[in-house]
Amino acid sequence: MSKPWWENAVVYQIYPRSFADSDGNGIGDLPGITSRLSYVKELGVDAIWLSPFYPSPQVDAGYDVSDYTDVDPLFGSLADFDALLGTAHGLGLKVIIDLVPNHCSNAHPLFQAALAAKPGSPEREMFHFVTGTGENGENPPNNWRSVFGGPSWTKVAAGPGQEEGDKQWYYHLFASEQPDFNWKNPKVLQYFESVFRFWLDRGVDGFRIDVSDALIKDTTWPNTPDGQPVIPKDEASGVHDIYRSFRRILDSYPGQRMAVIETGAPDEVVAQFLRPDEMQQAFNFRFQKTPWDGPALAKGIRESLQAYASVGSNTTWVTDNHDNVRTVTRYASKVKLSGEYVPEVHGQVALSSAELQTGLHRARAMALLLLTLPGSAYIYAGQELGLPEVVDLPDELRTDPSFFRTQGRVKGRDGCRVPMPWRSFGPTFGFNAQGGQESWLPQPSDWGQLSVGTQSEDSSSILRLYQDVLKLRRSLPALQSENLVWVSEPQLGTTNETVLVLERGDSEAGIVKIIVNFGDQPVDLPEGEGLIVSNDLQGGRLAGNSAALVKVV
Ligand code: GLC
Repeated sequence: MSKPWWENAVVYQIYPRSFADSDGNGIGDLPGITSRLSYVKELGVDAIWLSPFYPSPQVDAGYDVSDYTDVDPLFGSLADFDALLGTAHGLGLKVIIDLVPNHCSNAHPLFQAALAAKPGSPEREMFHFVTGTGENGENPPNNWRSVFGGPSWTKVAAGPGQEEGDKQWYYHLFASEQPDFNWKNPKVLQYFESVFRFWLDRGVDGFRIDVSDALIKDTTWPNTPDGQPVIPKDEASGVHDIYRSFRRILDSYPGQRMAVIETGAPDEVVAQFLRPDEMQQAFNFRFQKTPWDGPALAKGIRESLQAYASVGSNTTWVTDNHDNVRTVTRYASKVKLSGEYVPEVHGQVALSSAELQTGLHRARAMALLLLTLPGSAYIYAGQELGLPEVVDLPDELRTDPSFFRTQGRVKGRDGCRVPMPWRSFGPTFGFNAQGGQESWLPQPSDWGQLSVGTQSEDSSSILRLYQDVLKLRRSLPALQSENLVWVSEPQLGTTNETVLVLERGDSEAGIVKIIVNFGDQPVDLPEGEGLIVSNDLQGGRLAGNSAALVKVV
């Protein structure tokens, strides 16, 4: 039996508001995406993942959903979604959409009904409403903190039927406009089953499941020393059974439908989520947390391959997404930026253009490495253009709730969400198709050089490198082989702290070597082996911060 499509897929993440704007209002939309799908296809990926486009007050850029089965007019209509899906499928691209089950928007009818109902009512049981502490419930039930800063409880405000706000508080892992569902209540699963079916019936190929591993909380609500929430993930917690239910729904549909989960849990815990009757794939976030450091990256690759193989799943390779500092900037910095969740570094790193060039070089090498390894890879739109983080956005334009909830201490994630430059000229570099003047976040004035148009013409650009490597990924039999041999690995305190050499392939498919030079000085390439592609050679040697693919046999 041939392998399911996702095991080797390269998935391209599209952030709808930042990709392409068809109607000129400065915000990207679904018809804009449809109009650019041929670019995505030519890039050489297998699938797209769309971040949320559902009706939403947009407090957290659409991750606060008020209706799971429609399209926000900001982004278009259901008919636009169907057109996008049809076009993508026509081009041979699979489509994964973002499902946000941990929480909804406070504008969602289920939450509005819960607010209007009494404590203890079935409506309130859909969420976590808990009576506050103190004589009149004036203090939150416990000391847990929100991921975006501030407390993770909000008191029910006085309203019809709740003159005093009725002493209850509701729990939100993120912003107070994002109340968490109570996944211990089977009605929540029933509700989401209908959501899954709505989109599966429409023909989507899979879901990216947001905050998937936090669905279950310790509802004894213990105070914790650091205010961190207690989120059990073991079998007894019930989270695995929730995944099994998701899996049954996916498997009840024809074709190969899948889910990829967002989880920051350690490898061994993630592997448990990927057992054969649970979810198919998980983002492997360790490369978002690892700086440009040969020994650390090599160890990460080795451990990832082992962890996922242990449950028969495949590894995914991810360096960028809409929540993290862009890799070019991370790798440019002398400070080892880890790109952790809601990074405080946003907006606080001033890098010289020479440093950014080094970052770009390293990002190119990393792309060559990760896209030639076995497993599936995720590319975040703009990564293939080498876009850096925009670190100097004016505060008044910021939209990330983490910025507001920390009184500006955390700059937030807007800097990795600045709209795509499509051509070298014009007020929004072609992001806006209608000649509009603005984009929802301003693009740096020099982004014309990074645009798709400019880079397509330049055979040495990072865009062309992505295209070349993705083409090789499909055409070179050695890159379809599962065989991977570690020839040498950079290790701290040894004579080799900088060079990683891997061999991929077998006698039938042929063998290629993947060579990465993590150091700053050039190194020799093996003699007599033919170069297939490299991101930088220097006098026939492999330049510092570079990678090459060579043919062995
Ligand atoms: C996920 C999303 C992030 C969002 C958060 C809350 O981590 O990737 O963008 O803010 O969930 O929904």
